[in-house]
Amino acid sequence: MRQDILDYLMEHKDTFVSGQKISEMFGISRTAVWKHIRVLKQRGYIIESYTKRGYCLRIAPELLRPETISPKLKTKYFGKKIVYYEKVDSTNTAAKKIADQGAEEGTIVVAEEQTGGRGRLSRSFLSPFAQGIWFSIILRPTFPPMEVSKMTLVAAVALTKALRKMGLIHCGIKWPNDILVHDRKIVGILTELNASVEKINYMVMGIGINTALTKKVLPRDLKKTVTSFAIENVPVHRSELLQEVLLQLEHYYTVAQEQGFAPVLEEWKMLSCMLGKDVEVSLTDHTFTGKAVDLDENGNLVVETANGLEKVLAGDVQV
Ligand code: BTN
Repeated sequence: MRQDILDYLMEHKDTFVSGQKISEMFGISRTAVWKHIRVLKQRGYIIESYTKRGYCLRIAPELLRPETISPKLKTKYFGKKIVYYEKVDSTNTAAKKIADQGAEEGTIVVAEEQTGGRGRLSRSFLSPFAQGIWFSIILRPTFPPMEVSKMTLVAAVALTKALRKMGLIHCGIKWPNDILVHDRKIVGILTELNASVEKINYMVMGIGINTALTKKVLPRDLKKTVTSFAIENVPVHRSELLQEVLLQLEHYYTVAQEQGFAPVLEEWKMLSCMLGKDVEVSLTDHTFTGKAVDLDENGNLVVETANGLEKVLAGDVQV
C-alpha cells in the first residue's frame, strides 16, 4: 500500500494531491494515508503537506536498486550480482545464507535499511533507511585462514581511497579498520568467516558508510563519536559512492591475492590517522598507553610504551 501511495506521488511529483483523493483511490482512511506519509517522511522523502491542498512530493531519496548501480559499475566482478532489499535484519546474515548456497565471489547484498545491523564486539549498528550504504560482499579468497585479519586492512585502504575520491579528503584509518573524519567514525567494517583449519570457504565483508545521517537521528552516546558525509557537509550520491567503493575494493583485493599483503599494508600506513599518536589500548585483561608507531608485516599495531615495543593483535585502541 505504502509503495502504491509513493508511486502515485512520484507520478505527480511537484504537484499537490489531496488526502481525500488518495484515500478514495486506495480505499483507506485519510488517517491511514497520513500515517503512510509520515513513514515516507521518516525515510527521507521530502513531502510538503497543507490541510487544504494535500500532499506534494518534492524530493525522493536516491535508492540503491540494481538498475541504478549496475549501468555505471566499472568493476570486473565485484557487484556484478546484486541482491537488493529495502529492509533486512542484517546484510551480513543475508549474505551468509546465500554464500552457504554457493553464491559467487563478488556478489553483494545491499539494503536501504537494516533492522538488526551488527557491529564488531557484538555491538549493534545504526542503519536507518537510505541514510547510508549498508552492504556485504561475498569473497572466496585463496590465502590461508590465518591471513584473514589482514583482509579488513585491505578493505580499510580501499574504502579510504574511495571516500577521499568522493571529496572526504581528511578521512584516515584508525587501527584496525575504522575510518574516521575529524576523529569521528564514518565507516564500520565487520568481517565474518566460514573456514576449516586449512581453507577459507567464504568471507562476508559487511560495510556500513554513513552518508545522510544527521546529528538529530544519532542517539546521544554516538553524537560525539560518529559522523557522516552530511554532517561533514560533503554532498555525495550514494550510487556513485558504492560504485567507487566496489572498484577500489576489487583493485586492492586483487593486489593482495596476486602480490601478497605487503604493498597494501604500506598504503595502510600512509592512510592511517593513528600512527605517531598517543593511544590507549584495551585488551581483555588489561589496558596500557603508548605511542602507535608502526604496522608490522602481519597487520598488528606496534605501540611504543615505557616498557618497550608492544604488538597489538586484537583489542580496542583509542586515540
Ligand atoms: C563496526 O564498526 O563495528 C562494524 C560495523 C559494520 C556494519 C555493517 S553495515 C552492513 C553489514 N551488515 C551488518 O549487520 N553489519 C555490517
